[in-house]
Amino acid sequence: MPCDRQVLVCQYTNCVANDSQAVLAAFQANPVAGVEIAASGCQGQCNMGTTVRILPDETWYARVKPEDVPEIVEQHLKLNQPVDRLLHPRFHPRFSF
Ligand code: FES
Repeated sequence: MPCDRQVLVCQYTNCVANDSQAVLAAFQANPVAGVEIAASGCQGQCNMGTTVRILPDETWYARVKPEDVPEIVEQHLKLNQPVDRLLHPRFHPRFSF
């Protein structure tokens, strides 16, 4: 089955220090049809980890914690509505913190 979306969860050092392995596991525990969950290398946003990027949407999430994942899954991946409070301000400046 082709994937409509890909969720990239950084698994490089700074993000790992911010619990990115648990973030990845939380996405893997909440599968959505047509969405591939993938570990990634550094995405260049190391001070804002855990970094999560959703393609092809080009939505960037910053400081994602494992407990944030169900909200991203339900709201973004299932209902196509980004979770404003977690959007990375560098890529989505109107939602700055
Ligand atoms: S370590 Fe995750 S963005 Fe660089």
